[in-house]
Amino acid sequence: MTERELVDLYIKFFESKDHKRIPGASIIPENDSTILFTPAGMQPLVPYLLGEKHPQGKRLVDVQKCIRTGDIEEVGDATHLTFFRMLGNWSLGGYFKKEAIQWSWEFLTGKEWLGFDPEKISVTVFAGEGDIPADHEAAKIWMSAGVPKERIYSFGMKDNWWGPTGATGPCGPDTEMFLDTGKEPCCEECKPGCSCGKYFEVWNDVFMEYRKTEAGTYEPLEQKNVDTGMGVERTVAMLGGYKTVYEIGVLKPLIKRIRELAAIEEEEPTRSERVIADHIRSTTHILGDDQGVVPSNVDQGYVLRRLIRLAIRHGMKLDIPKSFLGELATMVIETEGEEYPELARNKALILDELEREEKLFGETLQSGMKQFNKMLPNLLKNPNKIIAGRLAFKLYDTFGFPVELTADLADENGMTVDMDGYHKAFDKHRELSKQGAEKKFKGGLADNSEMVTKLHTATHLLHAALRKVLGDSVKQKGSNITAERLRFDFLYPEKMTDEQKKEVEALVNSAINDKVSIEMLEMHPDEAEKLGALGFFKDKYGDVVKVYTIGEYSTEICGGPHVENTSELGRFRIASEKSSSRGVRRIKAVIE
Ligand code: ALA
Repeated sequence: MTERELVDLYIKFFESKDHKRIPGASIIPENDSTILFTPAGMQPLVPYLLGEKHPQGKRLVDVQKCIRTGDIEEVGDATHLTFFRMLGNWSLGGYFKKEAIQWSWEFLTGKEWLGFDPEKISVTVFAGEGDIPADHEAAKIWMSAGVPKERIYSFGMKDNWWGPTGATGPCGPDTEMFLDTGKEPCCEECKPGCSCGKYFEVWNDVFMEYRKTEAGTYEPLEQKNVDTGMGVERTVAMLGGYKTVYEIGVLKPLIKRIRELAAIEEEEPTRSERVIADHIRSTTHILGDDQGVVPSNVDQGYVLRRLIRLAIRHGMKLDIPKSFLGELATMVIETEGEEYPELARNKALILDELEREEKLFGETLQSGMKQFNKMLPNLLKNPNKIIAGRLAFKLYDTFGFPVELTADLADENGMTVDMDGYHKAFDKHRELSKQGAEKKFKGGLADNSEMVTKLHTATHLLHAALRKVLGDSVKQKGSNITAERLRFDFLYPEKMTDEQKKEVEALVNSAINDKVSIEMLEMHPDEAEKLGALGFFKDKYGDVVKVYTIGEYSTEICGGPHVENTSELGRFRIASEKSSSRGVRRIKAVIE
């Protein structure tokens, strides 16, 4: 079955269940600044999932082009792609679990539909977590449809909870459908969700009955929705009996051509050929989208630039002659342009931009190479043969020279790069510049900002603990947080004793061990004061302030962000306690 045939069949099936077909949206979200790209079919439907009336009614079906870069490191395995298409059916406050699951089963196994062998299908359901109960109902419905208990697995939020796509929005427990590829299990624990490639996740039914709030809590939605997503590429691969998504659609001829260009003879696929095929397809679709995104250093343009440069880098790894992007993009336009006429419409722009970016990157590489050669005699004098991370970072930061290339050049000269040092320098820079582009690229909070958020919560706990141990005269003078540590300056006349430091550490760690949720409320500053919230910068406040409360431990006026629960912090340790200026002490502390 081709991708087109699968799409038609899916639409036909759900039209027979009274769904209305709606057009897919752009991959660049409109009127939605919470995310850079459309990651799922539900994204353009968020207002309707939250209760807005949809003009087409309560039952909808469509196919949506999607971009996901959160899993970019996994691209090249059997199933992950940065560009893919998602089929979906929705109930906006209409049918719920029973119909959704029964129809999924009917479409997957029905002879006139996909006709998969029921024995090859396993499903997962939500095991319950926190205040949200296990989804026994979904499990029961699967059993009555004919899935035996042994093939129904239960997992927590990490695996069987979907959404929201931004920080807040509709979400809920889900049930995922997997097909067994017949591969040997990789280990005794191998089960659906395992990354070894034995199980292909093809479909996901989400029961969107909650909304995540800004405070990080889950509130029941008045309207219970169903949101489903079937991966077109994965399902077609399974229908054809293939072991990876790279054997179907335009990906197959792309891989073939890349192997010709690189003169690859061995049978085994290389990760590089798959990454190039995937990235050229996603960049063609991003450039071809009518929203008009071009490579740049911010937001979508930054992601696009990274994807193009990664494709070029992998081409270099395979020794492909430099300009191959245009040829491959033309294949994508010709194959997928009928379904997505915007590709054909924007062909000239796509090819121009790719050419320009290829040239620009070539220049970047050349000037980086020059700098490296200038530095080389000095580098070679280093007896450890290690290139300092900050130097590698300088090459990247000043000349755009990717660290992988510095590592390659180092290797050619019998040296290595201190990668830890590189990442540290990178993180530090990122925090200083606060551009956050890399953060967005990862499709969520990158390590750096997660750490900063954790240390921010730890600062509140430290502040409260100091007041408890040293008395209420302790007043915050300043706070500074990097990815490595927090720094807290406070009014106090004397050096702290070792006992006092231990006591403060113990108080903070007990708040962490108590797994306290952090609550945020908005109110007038006067109300916050009545609550006893700490806050020493009153003149800066407007009419409404955010008050963060960490259980019994701390209440403080603050802009956020904070972690959801203190258990996320790890162990707190005071690294140093010194005088900062007259009457002011300075603590540096870490979490480990
Ligand atoms: N929105 C759900 C997903 O992307 C269906 O898996």
